[in-house]
Amino acid sequence: MSYIDEVQKRRTFAIISHPDAGKTTMTEKLLLFGNVIREAGTVKGKKSGKFAASDWMEIEKQRGISVTSSVMSFPYENFYVNILDTPGHEDFSEDTYRTLTAVDSVVMIIDSTKGVEPQTIKLFKVCRMRGIPIFTFINKLDREGKDPLDLLAEIEEVLGIESYPMNWPVGMGKRFLGIVDRYNNRFVHFSGNEDEKIIPLQELEDGKHPEITESPIYDSAQDELLLLDEAGNNFDVERVAKGELTPVFFGSALANFGVETFFNTFLQFASAPKPRKTNLGLVPPEDEMFSGYIFKIQANMNTKHRDRIAFLRVCSGKFERGMSVNITRTGKSIKLNQTQAFMAASRETVDEAYPGDIIGVYDPNVYQIGDTLTAGKEDMHYQELPVFPPEMYRKVRVKNVMKAKQFRKGIEQLVQEGAIQLFRQESNDEFILGAVGQLQYDVFEYRLEAEYNVSVEFTTLGNRIPRWIANKNVDTRLFDSRSLLVRDRNDRYVVLFENDFTYRYFQDKNKDIELIDLFESNDYKGV
Ligand code: G4P
Repeated sequence: MSYIDEVQKRRTFAIISHPDAGKTTMTEKLLLFGNVIREAGTVKGKKSGKFAASDWMEIEKQRGISVTSSVMSFPYENFYVNILDTPGHEDFSEDTYRTLTAVDSVVMIIDSTKGVEPQTIKLFKVCRMRGIPIFTFINKLDREGKDPLDLLAEIEEVLGIESYPMNWPVGMGKRFLGIVDRYNNRFVHFSGNEDEKIIPLQELEDGKHPEITESPIYDSAQDELLLLDEAGNNFDVERVAKGELTPVFFGSALANFGVETFFNTFLQFASAPKPRKTNLGLVPPEDEMFSGYIFKIQANMNTKHRDRIAFLRVCSGKFERGMSVNITRTGKSIKLNQTQAFMAASRETVDEAYPGDIIGVYDPNVYQIGDTLTAGKEDMHYQELPVFPPEMYRKVRVKNVMKAKQFRKGIEQLVQEGAIQLFRQESNDEFILGAVGQLQYDVFEYRLEAEYNVSVEFTTLGNRIPRWIANKNVDTRLFDSRSLLVRDRNDRYVVLFENDFTYRYFQDKNKDIELIDLFESNDYKGV
């Protein structure tokens, strides 16, 4: 197979949803189609005590949540599929946002009984800003949910994206008869636990299936379809590719209904790897010079081997194990010998990879999130990954001072993963951590204990407003506990303001100090 063919068959995507909408269940079904797992129920079951293939961390098992992102890759029909799992919990949004830089399309799962939920809105916005194609799967049709037309209106109004239903449900819950597959001109009959029965639409029109066509819910579905045909959007592949129009599918992940059709149609229209922005212009995946960037680093994925794995998204050229690449940030050259492909917790050595693929590279402490690796242009780097200003701050101290060394090592490594940010207080050099939410502290504390055998204690500083200082030098006497002066990992000054009032007051009194809001200055559009 030619290099171009290898690139064109890649489909790299993430599934986003509000917790409990059915992301894990859907992932399981896709893994079943890919023959990655053999039996339903092996991936998850919060209550049954089985756990998702992607949930490898102990804390995830305990809480039944997915905290870290993992990658699952497998060949399927004529495609090569890379699914990037994203943490569903909102406290891990930063990790999720960075993962979204590494995909070419997104599947958004909506629970038909709940509609568009808060976490979906947040994740959707990031996809939208980056122009990522979004495919919607409205799940749990086997339950009594919201009216399908209302759901479409909600997607359009709340999320601000136009929609095109690829199929349309006939009834729902106990009266769920199946879906009219508009795109393939067929009806898929739902009969509980039995396999999907496929009927060409023509047979329904010819009156060959009165058990379906004589039902009043079939009539109302027909009326809705007529309305969609007349007043709805047209299907437009280009607008889908630009993320302006979302194809919508109805089904049930749990009942494995409508999932296969969805997956096949999704793979057909989802983007193959796209060109990506660098300081030297767009780099298309057809470019045969190897390049990629690191969007995630994870320490201790396997507690037996204390290792760090950097997740690399291949953007151009063919990766071959043993090749030498250059890290643009440091100018260092490194030979990529220990490289892995992912099937969640199980990892296999990977010898070659193509644009769109995600590989794990062993990290002997040389990489940072956002690093570009190239086998050619040494001054080329992919656009910076978004950095998110943390909201919650805490001082952290080691309980037993004899463990200070392990504490520093643990903190350094966990901070490099990027889920939590480290600051040093200017006046006394104490460690201050910043995170998006409470859960990150719990995970941090748990992992320091489990992986480094270190107990810590926190003193909360509450929610703070962080502002980076543009000036090189400042008079440190201007600051106090309400406007705490700290330094970030790159030694830049940051002020943690107690509240909006202290921030404004300070700004008024010290007009010569230029304070930067990272959210404002940040360009999410990224890579
Ligand atoms: P998440 O990863 O998005 O958090 O959702 P997950 O797949 O874990 O699904 C959340 C709950 O919704 C699970 O039930 C799951 O079985 C159920 N579910 C998923 N898809 C469907 C569907 O199509 N129809 C129906 N009726 N339910 C669905 P649970 O009771 O919370 O967990 P479990 O004990 O089944 O594991």
